[in-house]
Amino acid sequence: MTSQSPTPSALAFVPFVSVANMMRLVNANGVETVMRDLAAYIEQDFRRWPEFDKTPRVASHSQEGVIELMPTADAENYGFKYVNGHPKNGRTGHQTVTAFGVLSSVATGYPLLLSEMTVLTALRTAATSALVGKYLAPKGAQVMAMIGNGAQCEFQALAFRAICGINRLRLYDIDPAATAKAMRNLSAQGFDVTPCTSGAQAVEGAQVITTCTADKQCATILSDNMVGSGVHINAIGGDCPGKTELHRDILTRADIFVEYPEQTRIEGEIQQLDADHPVTELWQVMRGEAEGRRDAKQITLFDSVGFAIEDFSALRYIHDQIAGSNFYQPLDLLADPDDTRDLFGMLTRAA
Ligand SMILES: NC(=O)c1ccc[n+]([C@@H]2O[C@H](COP(=O)([O-])OP(=O)(O)OC[C@H]3O[C@@H](n4cnc5c(N)ncnc54)[C@H](O)[C@@H]3O)[C@@H](O)[C@H]2O)c1
Repeated sequence: MTSQSPTPSALAFVPFVSVANMMRLVNANGVETVMRDLAAYIEQDFRRWPEFDKTPRVASHSQEGVIELMPTADAENYGFKYVNGHPKNGRTGHQTVTAFGVLSSVATGYPLLLSEMTVLTALRTAATSALVGKYLAPKGAQVMAMIGNGAQCEFQALAFRAICGINRLRLYDIDPAATAKAMRNLSAQGFDVTPCTSGAQAVEGAQVITTCTADKQCATILSDNMVGSGVHINAIGGDCPGKTELHRDILTRADIFVEYPEQTRIEGEIQQLDADHPVTELWQVMRGEAEGRRDAKQITLFDSVGFAIEDFSALRYIHDQIAGSNFYQPLDLLADPDDTRDLFGMLTRAA
């Protein structure tokens, strides 16, 4: 900032992607194109997994929910996401999950992007699920059961169509209004959708089962008898200590695939198992160093909790997308005095 003018200099500004601009960007590209592009960024980063600084996310739990910080970095960029999970929030008109995040330059520590991440989290979670589905779903899968028809539901469906070619859906939610909402949205997107009155009915004839419910307890959304041989389970909603969706017996029959074992053992379905229960890391499958689906009878389980590298990839994608576009606003976020040591002088001159 100059001493004469209160106008911030170029270094003060950080590109900010608001919810409105995120929606413009996604609608301009098309949701399914965004899903495919995001999945490609995520896959690229999973394939260079050892290059990242990694830590289980930092979670602050309360009676009602959790607030989490999810940091990671490679040699060039640092990223973090702030995200909450409050299953009862819908009752007061609040979202269960909201988020925002930052991508920074490792060289200067300066933020390169501040972005809304509520919409972006739904996109990246779905893109990750479908990317994993590409490796684990049985060949020729056509039908997906979706149990839990809340905010994430349509995103999951669109990602599985864009990446795995699945167009037939069987929906179930304990709240029929949620299923009716998803029916409307997904029929309008050209899906062949069947509403179901129970989870057991939803899984009939499905080769992929997505569980995406929100409840702060160890729930049994899927019991052992509901899971036949050969299916792929995409388990999204068990992502906190004491918050799971699958009966333990399913876990002992399935081959389990995870993002980052150190985090998943705390938060995922596998918190129900011994700490040394074998799991396969997805980055190794994507690098061809570990086996994905072996045969048509195997039950595969993606024990999804959401890992920081997926958010890093999503921020990297958005940062690339907004270059030269009007999908962002410059935000006056960083103090930039003429003399870097005269921060106080800048403050007093502004009085
Ligand atoms: N793994 C990840 O990366 C990731 C990312 C985002 C969200 N999540 C989790 O996904 C879940 C869904 O998130 P959301 O934003 O869609 O939440 P939401 O509150 O919008 O929707 C959840 C839905 O689940 C339904 N439900 C609750 N209990 C049920 C039951 N027993 N049977 C059937 N349906 C039931 C609710 O009625 C609601 O419609 C949450 O638990 C959230 O924490 C995980």
